[in-house]
Amino acid sequence: MKITVKAPANIAFIKYWGKRNEKLRLPANSSISMNLSGAYTTTSVEFDSKLKSDILILNNKEVVGREMERVSKHLDLIRSIAKSKNYAQVKSTNNFPKGAGIASSASGFAALTVAAAKAVNLNLSEKKLSILARLGSGSACRSIPNGFVEWKMGNSSESSYARSLFGSEYWNIYDLIAVVGENSKKISSTEGHAVAESSPFYKTRLSGMKDKVAEIKSALKRKDFTKFGEITEAEAINMHTVMMTSVPPLYYLLPGTLDVISHVLELREKGIECYFTIDAGPNVHVICKEENKRKIQKVLSDIKSVKTVLINRAACGARVI
Ligand code: PMV
Repeated sequence: MKITVKAPANIAFIKYWGKRNEKLRLPANSSISMNLSGAYTTTSVEFDSKLKSDILILNNKEVVGREMERVSKHLDLIRSIAKSKNYAQVKSTNNFPKGAGIASSASGFAALTVAAAKAVNLNLSEKKLSILARLGSGSACRSIPNGFVEWKMGNSSESSYARSLFGSEYWNIYDLIAVVGENSKKISSTEGHAVAESSPFYKTRLSGMKDKVAEIKSALKRKDFTKFGEITEAEAINMHTVMMTSVPPLYYLLPGTLDVISHVLELREKGIECYFTIDAGPNVHVICKEENKRKIQKVLSDIKSVKTVLINRAACGARVI
């Protein structure tokens, strides 16, 4: 049976950076995110007893090597649960342009997990699917539930999974992604997590996490946009401080990134409220309310270093289509 699943990418307001357990992808802290309506992966999986190995077709091109091995390893995990030996054909496309620097591992592994589990006839709960997706790529576990999501760090594989705090219709806030460059990713996020501990600021970062998660959840509950945005922005800078002070140092920001940040600050000075956050790449996610969306989109599009602006609101999690 061929199963097709659509899964969103997600943007973390409280980030996951650093692991307590590398193999199980157990994070060093809990994180909070929103699924993105405009950036998603569509994946179909079909197991076939005639296949001699797994096949991965990504954006219409057959993929081999490391990317393929990671997918095969994930399929092995699902096969072992289902006690199946069949290989699979996996076809996956991202709706966001390749090279736009939008990470595809979260949406990719969320879609792969749900499609493969269903295709092999496993009927798994959302919690189990989130745990499985986490084993493929940490942040993928947050693309399984709906809307605004919390990934509780847990203390074991079984207790580290994501759940929805609020559905996608809960709060009409937007994430305008100002794309300024490709994600050079000389160092992948997997390798990046591994060196987080080497930053002298890492311990300080982690010591403030519990309170920060509680505070942003409270702001989310109250729909206090100002508090929510302030925490989000400070958190992004906190994570990039750890990145830039680790050994080796990781510089994900480009000149265009700082250009966009300065425009966000200017907009705020003019009374147009918006806040930025940045993942392991140069693009800037500008968070705003609906009433300011158009104005901000125009300002971002007019910045020389911005190639394109992708518009997102909250979306539901991975779904069979
Ligand atoms: O899931 P990974 O290994 O790609 O790590 C994601 C890391 C960040 O995007 C930088 C932060 C996050 O929580 O999404």
